[in-house]
Amino acid sequence: MSKKVLVLPGDGIGPEIVAEAVKVLNKVNESFSLGLELEEGLVGGAGYDAAGTPLPAETLEKALAADAILLGAVGGPKWDKLEDRALRPEQGLLGIRKNLELFGNLRPAILYPQLAEASTLKAEVVSGLDILIVRELTGGIYFGKPRGIRTLENGDREGYNTYVYNETEIRRIGRVAFESAMKRNKKLCSVDKANVLEVTVLWREIMEELAPEYPEVELSHMYVDNAAMQLVRAPKQFDVIVTGNMFGDILSDAAAMLTGSIGMLPSASLDKNNKGMYEPCHGSAPDIAGKGIANPLATILSVAMMLRYTFGEGAAADAIEAAVSKVLDQGLRTGDIYSEGMTRVGTAEMGDAVLAAL
Ligand code: NAD
Ligand code: IPM
Ligand code: MN
Repeated sequence: MSKKVLVLPGDGIGPEIVAEAVKVLNKVNESFSLGLELEEGLVGGAGYDAAGTPLPAETLEKALAADAILLGAVGGPKWDKLEDRALRPEQGLLGIRKNLELFGNLRPAILYPQLAEASTLKAEVVSGLDILIVRELTGGIYFGKPRGIRTLENGDREGYNTYVYNETEIRRIGRVAFESAMKRNKKLCSVDKANVLEVTVLWREIMEELAPEYPEVELSHMYVDNAAMQLVRAPKQFDVIVTGNMFGDILSDAAAMLTGSIGMLPSASLDKNNKGMYEPCHGSAPDIAGKGIANPLATILSVAMMLRYTFGEGAAADAIEAAVSKVLDQGLRTGDIYSEGMTRVGTAEMGDAVLAAL
């Protein structure tokens, strides 16, 4: 079986954090004899600058041929003013998700006990936190049509998007969520806005329809506004959260702060065969790009998810996670997770420390 990994560094801090993750991937590839073949590609602003499009045909071909993709981040102020929206860096990322049908986005928010002091929340609120956000990734308002900006008869411009899910899309993400819950603490909270939006009335109905197939899982429902509040009030009430594309985007950034920093949150975006793209949940962080201070751990932890979910290499994944825990034990911290008394390190030092701990 071929085991191809496509590496897409992207923009901003993307290349900096991906370099560290690739070091880690190369090391476990060797020590665990994984037989992975790595190749690189261009995406986002980097794709636009080199080939005039955020998703060059060559990149899409490589992505379709790969078993797994490791992506840094895309976007930045340099490309924000591009008139043609289809050329913006974010479209490269969305294009890969859509073309590869990576509908199942897993975003685990786990607090490493060493980082209890790094969270802006009280230690007792977040200690022991281990939740999983399952976000639908190829539908909803991100992709619904019609969409655009139009000029009305009175000359007023109007922006519009369409929030749509069909039951097939809801059912398949629902199954991912129920199955994830089965492997964890068997609690699933479906987050919607069924008090206002019909699309989520259907969402709730389909989740209820699936529930009898997973009798051990306790299914509950919550409105998204309350869910945002509960996530910061008492996050440990959750085990698995399942929600649509946009709500999942927002709630996962909020959940990131429970883990100390957005720089700690990895993700897996999977198709129905567990082929996937792996990336940190954060963006290209233009404010700190080029300074060598970004936290590479979310990207390194995304490599662990790749080994576990796409390649079934649990032991290698465990080794990476244990190495991350070890460097945190050593007191090493990038600026985003720094707290008093710790040792402040840069991106490469953090990557090297993980490598040494492996
Ligand atoms: P962002 O996640 O890039 O940054 C938000 C804040 O978090 C910034 O202060 C940044 O410095 C900090 N941060 C993020 N990652 C960090 C890390 N690893 N270590 C330390 N600090 C970190 O979000 P934004 O500023 O809203 O977006 C910037 C650009 O990134 C935009 O163009 C946006 O579209 C894009 N974006 C891309 C992705 C992706 O590629 N998956 C995700 C989110 C945003
Ligand atoms: C994410 C990002 C993307 C999203 C953007 C960059 C398109 O915020 O991966 O969370 O909204 O999905
Ligand atoms: Mn996001």
